[in-house]
Amino acid sequence: MEKFTIVDFEELHLDAAGAFLASRHRAERRRFPLLPERYEDAAETRELVRAAMGYAEGVAAVDGDGALAGFLFTYRNLVDPSSPRARYAAARESMLLAHTHAVAPDAEPSAIYHAPFAVLAERLLTDGIFEHVAHVPAGNSTVLDAWYSLGFGKANAVAIRDLSPLRRSGTRAVEIRRATPDDIDIVQRLVDEEARFHATSPIFRPYVAEQTQRAVRASLMESLERDTDVHLIARAEGEDAGIIDVGPGRGSPLYVPPGAAYIGDTAVRPEFRGTGVGTALVEAGLAWARERGFRAMTLHFATANALSSSFWTGLGFEVAMWHLRRRIDERIASHRP
Ligand SMILES: CC(C)(COP(=O)(O)OP(=O)(O)OC[C@H]1O[C@@H](n2cnc3c(N)ncnc32)[C@H](O)[C@@H]1OP(=O)(O)O)[C@@H](O)C(=O)NCCC(=O)NCCS
Repeated sequence: MEKFTIVDFEELHLDAAGAFLASRHRAERRRFPLLPERYEDAAETRELVRAAMGYAEGVAAVDGDGALAGFLFTYRNLVDPSSPRARYAAARESMLLAHTHAVAPDAEPSAIYHAPFAVLAERLLTDGIFEHVAHVPAGNSTVLDAWYSLGFGKANAVAIRDLSPLRRSGTRAVEIRRATPDDIDIVQRLVDEEARFHATSPIFRPYVAEQTQRAVRASLMESLERDTDVHLIARAEGEDAGIIDVGPGRGSPLYVPPGAAYIGDTAVRPEFRGTGVGTALVEAGLAWARERGFRAMTLHFATANALSSSFWTGLGFEVAMWHLRRRIDERIASHRP
């Protein structure tokens, strides 16, 4: 196996880093044509990496001639426990974004990812960071294998779909209305159903409603007042039964298609699940996005959530990227020979 040296990432590595990313993205686009074409251009991906030099810490794997074989950046994501994000993220975690790592197109990924991750993870350990989140393209199984062999496993999926109408529609008579700021109480209650469900086994996402509810309410209120977002409420049998939130695209630049909208909170009350309410909400969300001139839709779901995994893939969403996660046993901080 060829030996690589790990050095700090520098300007001189930018051209090759941009080229590796663009090459990987070209292959990804052959599988997922909705992904943005602009990042097939190495000058564009080079800029993404250059920006990462400003907010993240990067290392490069170089061969005996000093040529770049791969690179990896991370940044420390410290989450305010009372913020809406605390519902999804650990308090301290390191983020390895999709555009902040790549290997040479002809390289063996597992040989290259290993050493940069070892160097960065050791540094992070001294800062009390034991949790790592790596965003990894779904299309390349050898790259995924490299991350699995470092102890990572799937946590979330980023899925994409065009805006064509669903092939099937909800079976139940459902009335859909747009929520207004006056609906804040019911919106917050319905959105909370998603958090409650994610606290069940085997998802086990901590239910932190008490700490986060003020900030969650403020952020829901803001979004209800914005014209660019919509919360749609489904009414069935005379009751508010479920909710979906659609707004402008967000997420990792390589995985936000041009003209993408984004589905955020989605939940149906337990007694109404499995009867077509969710499908009717998605149909209405897609129609809203089409009318607004959007051209694609993205969303995230937790892979341990069997309900949402089958729901989204059944409605034609395809997984384009995984959020992989590794949690290191904290005893290592105090127990070493
Ligand atoms: C995911 C969710 C929004 C779907 O809404 P829903 O009204 O239950 O969905 P529908 O009745 O329209 O069902 C459509 C598909 O969802 C999946 N699904 C729904 N209920 C299911 C169940 N009890 N078991 C397994 N799959 C189920 C199936 O794929 C189903 O297709 P099928 O009818 O061909 O089997 C809803 O189940 C829910 O609120 N779950 C908890 C919160 C959550 O997971 N939110 C999504 C976060 S990304």
